[in-house]
Amino acid sequence: MRTQVVIVGGGPSGLLLSQLLMKDGIEAVVLERQTKAHVLGRIRAGVLEMGFVDLMREAGVAERLDREGFVHDGAVLSFDNDQVRIDFGALTGRHVTVYGQTEVTRDLYDARDRTVGRTIFEVSDVELHDLETDKPFVTYRKGGEELRIDCDFIAGCDGFHGVSRKNIPDTVRREFEKVYPFGWLGILSETPPVHDELIYASSSRGFALCSMRNANLSRYYIQCPLSDKAETWSDDAFWGELRLRIPAEAAEALVTGPSIEKSIAPLRSFVSEPMRWGRLFLCGDAAHIVPPTGAKGLNSAASDVFYLHRGLTRYYAEGDSGGIERYSEKALARVWKTQRFSWYMTTLLHHFPNQSDFDIRMQEAEIAHLREVRTAQETLAINYVGLPY
Ligand code: FAD
Ligand code: DHB
Repeated sequence: MRTQVVIVGGGPSGLLLSQLLMKDGIEAVVLERQTKAHVLGRIRAGVLEMGFVDLMREAGVAERLDREGFVHDGAVLSFDNDQVRIDFGALTGRHVTVYGQTEVTRDLYDARDRTVGRTIFEVSDVELHDLETDKPFVTYRKGGEELRIDCDFIAGCDGFHGVSRKNIPDTVRREFEKVYPFGWLGILSETPPVHDELIYASSSRGFALCSMRNANLSRYYIQCPLSDKAETWSDDAFWGELRLRIPAEAAEALVTGPSIEKSIAPLRSFVSEPMRWGRLFLCGDAAHIVPPTGAKGLNSAASDVFYLHRGLTRYYAEGDSGGIERYSEKALARVWKTQRFSWYMTTLLHHFPNQSDFDIRMQEAEIAHLREVRTAQETLAINYVGLPY
């Protein structure tokens, strides 16, 4: 088989890239290791930047997102019983949209099913070849058969545990990592959200986040030790701990119910440089991970897709390879700013084991600064709603 672009990974990065390319008449084949049901079963991010929504519109897949997504003009940061509302609208003139990653992925798959674009599920042993030539190819196994796709370019959209990144030689690849000494225990429940905006709560018992998917579907997280297991947290224990970390009025208003999903995610900052090697381009979690505190994981995957899509379109339409040659540089410039913001939010809002009294005073001083200084709020808001591409 031959195509123009092979996309390894059918998560949000790979699917969004495939739809954008298809709109411009560039053919792509998506190779996904899992089944579609498995990919759609993952509960992950929930907050979309305007840049992400614009890309979904450009890809022609934003009809439901525009109808069902919730526009949020602000979010609340709470510190024990002190609260600061960050007014995105007043500070930046911009907003975010609450719409789950599961729904984004479903919309992208539905759109892809209506087109001729091929998505091949349940592939294994994906290997990339001849990346430093202009005739790269990909081999994989499907149903016991070994298959090959020749192409012009390969997009590695296969997440943190994918194979693409490791094709960049060790002598060239540089990895930067920070692992945090805690995780997030998250639950989804069919209950009304406790507040109409997200609440990011820092407390001496640890961080908590109140989020939502719709008027009767809430998403809550609490910071927990990495040694905890989701199965050993009963729903009652979760709700009890959440109540102790959020503002008193929210604790009183909280409607609880059975969880329909419960899982623990570790927190990590990770960047792999460069994001391009010959004809291979890395996008999204394949190249970088952020701790979820700033809601940036999915959004920074989208900015990579933006730069790569623009570069490939320029190459095919005008024969100009400038965009793809500068892909890594451009994508990484934004990635590092997003890393800074996610690290800042994580450091500000979590309780760290072995935190010194000095560290605690620094958090308190930063909070006072945020409360009192409008430009500090503005900096936070500019980053939260999304830096320009
Ligand atoms: P992925 O979504 O990881 O997709 C990669 C795809 O590639 C997967 O479908 C995988 O099956 C496939 N794949 C992997 N290896 C291969 C292979 N060898 N061959 C073929 N296919 C392969 N972000 C937030 O902003 N907020 C959150 O609350 C949040 N929660 C998260 C919770 C968890 C448990 C995780 C893992 C991530 C979370 N994120 C969150 C991050 C966000 O979900 C990711 O940034 C986003 O999914 C990145 O999209 P992606 O397409 O780059 O990677
Ligand atoms: C959600 C997750 C986040 O990491 C975040 O910062 C905001 C919202 C969510 O799952 O709704």
